[in-house]
Amino acid sequence: MIHTSTHNQVLRLTLARAEKKNALNGEMYRTLSEQLLRAESDPDIHVVLFDAEGDSFCAGNDLSDFAAVASGAVEPQPQVRDFLHALAEGTKPYVAAVQGKAVGIGATLLLHCDLVYLAQDAQLSTPFVNLGLVPEAASSYLLPCRIGHARAFEMFAFGKSIDAATALSFGIANAVEPTHEVRETALAAAHALASRPIGALQATKKLMRDTQTLRAVMGKEIEVFSERLKSTEAMAALKAFAKRKQV
Ligand code: COA
Repeated sequence: MIHTSTHNQVLRLTLARAEKKNALNGEMYRTLSEQLLRAESDPDIHVVLFDAEGDSFCAGNDLSDFAAVASGAVEPQPQVRDFLHALAEGTKPYVAAVQGKAVGIGATLLLHCDLVYLAQDAQLSTPFVNLGLVPEAASSYLLPCRIGHARAFEMFAFGKSIDAATALSFGIANAVEPTHEVRETALAAAHALASRPIGALQATKKLMRDTQTLRAVMGKEIEVFSERLKSTEAMAALKAFAKRKQV
């Protein structure tokens, strides 16, 4: 459910679970982390491009997987942690093309991308508190750094979406594009980046990111997130999501 292709030193990772709004399940996390590690070690890959099929970029973590962990039916999935660590440690530039909804990890992933192109219909949200949960992917640190505490807290606490123009004005994105053009624009930017001197690009990205801090924040978030997942607040929210189609 992740399509991968490589062309002119750009590794394209396409979320391809459109029928579930590209919610990430264990298999998708595993593929993503494997591909990011591959990008790190393969000298023929200079840039990673994240994009998605369908009308939404990504509806976040698969909520039925969260529910299974919360109920104790399955153990927490190591592949989620592996993906987050790969994001924190990546030194090749990441580019994203985002249409429609980008929820949870679909939005926080963008804080690890170096160039972000949003479609006019993009809507970013981080509804962790709505779910009785806490931010992940080092977003408790990265989002306030990027947009300021007041705006970040509002996004976390109320779970409201911000539209593409707002995200651009907050500094989360590089440009807003017509929806039918956003993937092509991002691909062109990825190819332009791939032709830049890769050593200097990687060194620049490394200087701009404190991997140790990101890893430390992720460790703390994962600890609290795992506790919150078993809370009555989270269980009630997950149950409500599972039931909403049945009413
Ligand atoms: N996990 C599992 N399945 C999900 C999902 C998720 N995070 N998000 C969407 N889906 C599924 C829906 O259950 C539905 O499946 P079904 O057709 O088998 O019933 C399908 O994807 C389409 O979703 P739907 O809700 O009908 O689309 P929509 O356009 O009305 O709404 C969203 C899209 C993303 C706003 C809505 O699905 C949503 O809020 N999802 C949950 C987002 C979330 O809280 N993610 C976790 C953040 S930490």
